[in-house]
Amino acid sequence: MAAYSSEAASKGRGLTFVPTMGGLHEGHLKLTQEGRRLSADGDLLVVSIFLNPTQFGPSEDFSKYPKNDKEDLAKLEEAGVDLVFMPTVTDIYPKGFKTYVEVEGLSDKLCGQSRPGHFRGVATVVARLFGIVKPRRAVFGLKDYQQFVIIKKMTEDLMLGLDIFGFKTVREADGLAMSSRNAYLTEKERAVAGLLSKALLAGEKIFRRGSTSAKEILLGAEKIIEKESLVMVDYLKLCDPSSLEDLSVVTDRAVLLIAVRIGKARLIDNCILERRP
Ligand code: PAF
Repeated sequence: MAAYSSEAASKGRGLTFVPTMGGLHEGHLKLTQEGRRLSADGDLLVVSIFLNPTQFGPSEDFSKYPKNDKEDLAKLEEAGVDLVFMPTVTDIYPKGFKTYVEVEGLSDKLCGQSRPGHFRGVATVVARLFGIVKPRRAVFGLKDYQQFVIIKKMTEDLMLGLDIFGFKTVREADGLAMSSRNAYLTEKERAVAGLLSKALLAGEKIFRRGSTSAKEILLGAEKIIEKESLVMVDYLKLCDPSSLEDLSVVTDRAVLLIAVRIGKARLIDNCILERRP
C-alpha cells in the first residue's frame, strides 16, 4: 500500500480514500461514488477493509460483525475502485505499537458514554491508515456523525494534510439508515427500526414549524419511539454540530442525534437542523 501510494505521488496522482470495516452495503458504495466524483483526473480511489479490534469493547460485537471479503471485493471491483487495502491486525498494530489518539472533549460524549474507548480506537486506526495510505482526501458517512466530527478535528489538530468529506446517510425505503449492524435485526425488530428516522423527522418538523426549543424538539422525537417496547433509547440529544455540546435553544444549526438498542443491534442516526435561507 505504501509503495503504491509513493508511486502514485511520484506521478502526481493523488489518492482518495474510503476506510471501511467491510460488511459493505449501498451506503459504502455511495461513498466510493462520491470519492470518485471528488477526485481530480488521474487520482486513484482506494478503499480499506479492516475490522479494527481497538474500537470494540470487550462485550461488543467484534467477533460477530458481518464479514464477507469475497462479496465485498466483488462489490468494490464492480464499483471501479482502483485498489483495496486489506491489512492484517499485525500490519496495523505491530508488536511494540504504543501510540493511541484521543480527541478530548468529543470522544467521551454521546456514544463515547456507553462505548468507552471506542473513539480512541477509531481515531487511532484512522490516523494509522492515513499514515500508510497518505491520501489527499478521505470520505466518511455522516450516519456516524460523532465519528466524523472527531476525525475532522484530529486531522486539523495533527495537521495531517488531507481533506475530510462527509456524505449524507443512505436509507432504506422506510427511512432506516443503512448500517452493517442492521443485519442483526430479526424480522420483528426490523419492522420497528424505521422509527429511529421517523423520530428524527418529527423533531425536525417541530423545528421547521418555528420552534427553537430543544425541549420541544426532543419531546416531539421522543413521542414517536417511547411507546415501542422493542426500542431501548440510549440517548436522544440536540447538540451543537461542531462541539457536540448539548443545546437548549437552536440559533443557527444543530444536530439531532439518536442511539438505541433493538434486540442485539445498537443503532444510531442523526439529522442536521438548519435555518433555510
Ligand atoms: O466507520 C467505520 O466503518 C469505522 O469506524 C472506520 C472509520 C473504518 C474505522 O475503523
